Amino acid sequence: MKLITKRAAAAAAWCVLAGLASGSAQAQAAMEEGKKLFNQTAVPACAVCHTLKHAGAAGEIGPSLDELKPDAARVEKAMRTGIGQMPAFTNLSDAQIRQIAAYVAAATGAAK
Ligand code: HEC
Repeated sequence: MKLITKRAAAAAAWCVLAGLASGSAQAQAAMEEGKKLFNQTAVPACAVCHTLKHAGAAGEIGPSLDELKPDAARVEKAMRTGIGQMPAFTNLSDAQIRQIAAYVAAATGAAK
């Protein structure tokens, strides 16, 4: 029973991410919102330090996310705890952190 619930949750999460990468209107809106969070809302903006083609970002202080292709969990962890030169983003809400994480994973293809 527990296992079934876990599987259902994983399947649901996969659908959300797959939806982001495909083209439904709702998914496109989520991608646009993610891009805005990435470029503007996060302070300092992720784009200052990272390259991410989808966001038009060409920062070179941190690793290129296009090459790293981190999954959502890895992005989320980096934002919550900080890593090396990257600060923790304590000014973002939980929902914003999850949205950026899903956006980066979908934009780089890691979600597929
Ligand atoms: C001040 C520059 C800076 C900003 C702003 C910044 N990062 Fe980073 N980021 C880095 C650096 C440098 C690293 C590499 C750290 C290391 O491995 O020592 C990194 C690493 C990462 C990683 C890889 C983590 C891992 O597990 O290897 C991800 C994912 C990431 N950043 C996402 C983001 C996102 C999303 C944002 C915006 C919310 C952001 N970064 C903002 C500098 C930055």
